[in-house]
Amino acid sequence: MPITNLTKEEFIKVLNLKTDFLAESVKELIHTKSNNSDHTVLIVDDEINNLQLLKRTLRGKYKILTASNGLEGLEVLKENLDSVSLIVSDHKMPIMEGTKFLEEANSIAPDVIKILLTGFSDIEIITDAVNKCNLFQYVLKPFNPEELSEVIKNGIDKFDLASSKSSILKDLKELFYKTIKSIASALDAKDEYTHGHSMRVTLYSIILAKYINVPENQLEMIEISGLLHDIGKIAIPQAILCKAGKLSDEEFVIMKTHPSNSEKLISSIKKLENIAPGIKHHHERWDGRGYPDKLQGENIPFSARIIAIADTYDAMTSTRSYRKALSHEIAIQEIQKCAGAQFDPVLASKFVEIEQTIKAAKEHPEEYYTKYSSLYKEIK
Ligand SMILES: [Fe+2]
Repeated sequence: MPITNLTKEEFIKVLNLKTDFLAESVKELIHTKSNNSDHTVLIVDDEINNLQLLKRTLRGKYKILTASNGLEGLEVLKENLDSVSLIVSDHKMPIMEGTKFLEEANSIAPDVIKILLTGFSDIEIITDAVNKCNLFQYVLKPFNPEELSEVIKNGIDKFDLASSKSSILKDLKELFYKTIKSIASALDAKDEYTHGHSMRVTLYSIILAKYINVPENQLEMIEISGLLHDIGKIAIPQAILCKAGKLSDEEFVIMKTHPSNSEKLISSIKKLENIAPGIKHHHERWDGRGYPDKLQGENIPFSARIIAIADTYDAMTSTRSYRKALSHEIAIQEIQKCAGAQFDPVLASKFVEIEQTIKAAKEHPEEYYTKYSSLYKEIK
């Protein structure tokens, strides 16, 4: 059954199924990532005998790269940034000491595990090196190959854990983002005249929010709110939603239930609770004559005040079943005229200030969406 024909209860079930799917995907990802044993170790040592011994110790377990001094080591690291998981470096070397090399290597590749080989007399430099080079461990010379091999294995395990964690987080965000976007698109598809509406409202909202320097964590919240602001329309009968012509008073009463429906749906998902108030109040007016709660001025949640402007602009500039689209210029004049009555006057004047960007975004929504979206950037 298409998602747009579901009842509220069925829709919540679908969302819960999607949550289960996310949990399963995470398990699968952990399994896949932790099975990856394809690692490269960079060994930097000026003593040829040591280098040979290290190579013999690690042969067959990892791919090995070697360098005979720090400068060469940095070159090899830069050329193999995507593949090196761990570096073993001697300390006493000509041209550049091991600690200096590892410090530089740390600025290039902070996630790569670093191990220092050092003589007992160098012990004072260790404390400093631990901090400066983000040192995983030091090994005293002469080293026991088996012990060193164990230290390297532990280092590789740590590298795997850290990289699978960040990769899982990225994949999880991608799943979340795609789920939210697919729900928004399914909703827009319910009515041919609102095609792309949620995405465009989100786009205008985040452009305005960025322009007024809203902090990054709130930008993400505004983006999700924009995508889901009309989700409650899922429960509005198609005959009302797509009616060609003016709604009757009774029909309008039903239509006006959609912000509260949106809030109820969103509140049922733990992770989205905090965006629910912004969604519920996107049809409130600055002068208190909106719905559902007739909130006034700054009592209206900030994200709802932003979405209200973006929503109205998109409604005016899109063709509807009962009228043709208004021009961008007329829509901007309307926003200006309604500042302080329908809209937050400060936000409305900021929106007018960036009207050229809004116009360009309206003409190239996909391009501008990838440029402005915080969620999209995180999963790139
Ligand atoms: Fe709405």
